[in-house]
Amino acid sequence: MLKLRQAAKKYEDQVIFSNIDIAVKAGDIVSILGPSGCGKTSLLRCIAGLAAFTEGELFIDSREVTRIKAENRPVVLMFQEPLLFPHLTVLQNAIYGMKHGKRKLSRKERIRQAEEMLKKIEMFEWKDRYPSQLSGGQQQRVSLARALLLQPSLLLLDEPFSSLDAHLRHSLRIWVRDFLKQEGVTALFVTHDREEAAVMSDRLIVMKDGKLQQEGEPREVYEQPLNKDVADFMSDGLHLDGEFYTASSLSISGSQAGTYQGIIEHPLFAYGYTFYRIKIPELEQSVVVRSDEVREEGQQVSIAVQQKGSAADD
Ligand SMILES: Nc1ncnc2c1ncn2[C@@H]1O[C@H](COP(=O)(O)OP(=O)(O)OP(=O)(O)O)[C@@H](O)[C@H]1O
Ligand SMILES: [Mg+2]
Repeated sequence: MLKLRQAAKKYEDQVIFSNIDIAVKAGDIVSILGPSGCGKTSLLRCIAGLAAFTEGELFIDSREVTRIKAENRPVVLMFQEPLLFPHLTVLQNAIYGMKHGKRKLSRKERIRQAEEMLKKIEMFEWKDRYPSQLSGGQQQRVSLARALLLQPSLLLLDEPFSSLDAHLRHSLRIWVRDFLKQEGVTALFVTHDREEAAVMSDRLIVMKDGKLQQEGEPREVYEQPLNKDVADFMSDGLHLDGEFYTASSLSISGSQAGTYQGIIEHPLFAYGYTFYRIKIPELEQSVVVRSDEVREEGQQVSIAVQQKGSAADD
């Protein structure tokens, strides 16, 4: 569905990203994950045609669109903010893009399709309300409806949930994922939240400093980060002599005979368990290890590492 070859973007002398190769299969949701400023939004803007690639080729639906204008690309970009027109109702907002779109539909047909879409996103009862009368999550759902009514081959989402509070964000991202899957939408989804990337996507791409670092299924990237940058960003575990040990191979050992000495930084509570973030000064790394024993901040502990290939590994 999407093929990007050797893409690069420069602003004057500054390289924003380079050597980017991405392929997305029809119906897949692919996340682009990376720290702030690594070039994610710039990349999406170039794919959408809002900015031009300095180098590279872009194919969508097997058609080269590298130099095609934004409005003629079969792509819709959804932003962080819902960007609805405040003076238009939900229905008018949903229809808005279709009026200016390439598909020439009668007004009646536009309304029919928009109403059907509003039913799907569970916003039909709100069709005559104005954006200011909706919650942030409802507004984002309406902007998703507006995007999908344009029937793009590819939907681009740039941190669409980041303006929402944590609870809403958690429920909405699952809802959106299920909805996109059900509709068979192909999507490229940008986030700097690794959990969100894992929840949302079939595959993920980790970017740093304008370079593509790793591409794979979320679990594969999490368990086998290719380099330290990916591991720092995506995984919990330890780098030792060029090898990566997942958090599951680490434990707090009672004796001082443990392999590494660490200092408890703080507890983390998740899913009924307590984890501790532990700094290991000699390795200049921090790890997160589960422990059922209560530990104090600043307490010294020993970290044991289950060696690869040993019994507990398989
Ligand atoms: N129009 C522009 N002119 C010059 N530099 C730009 C322009 N747009 C973006 N940049 C630079 O490109 C770099 C990447 O920015 P970008 O917005 O793509 O990052 P990002 O990964 O989306 O970050 P965030 O997670 O904070 O949204 C930044 O250093 C930014 O200053
Ligand atoms: Mg951005």
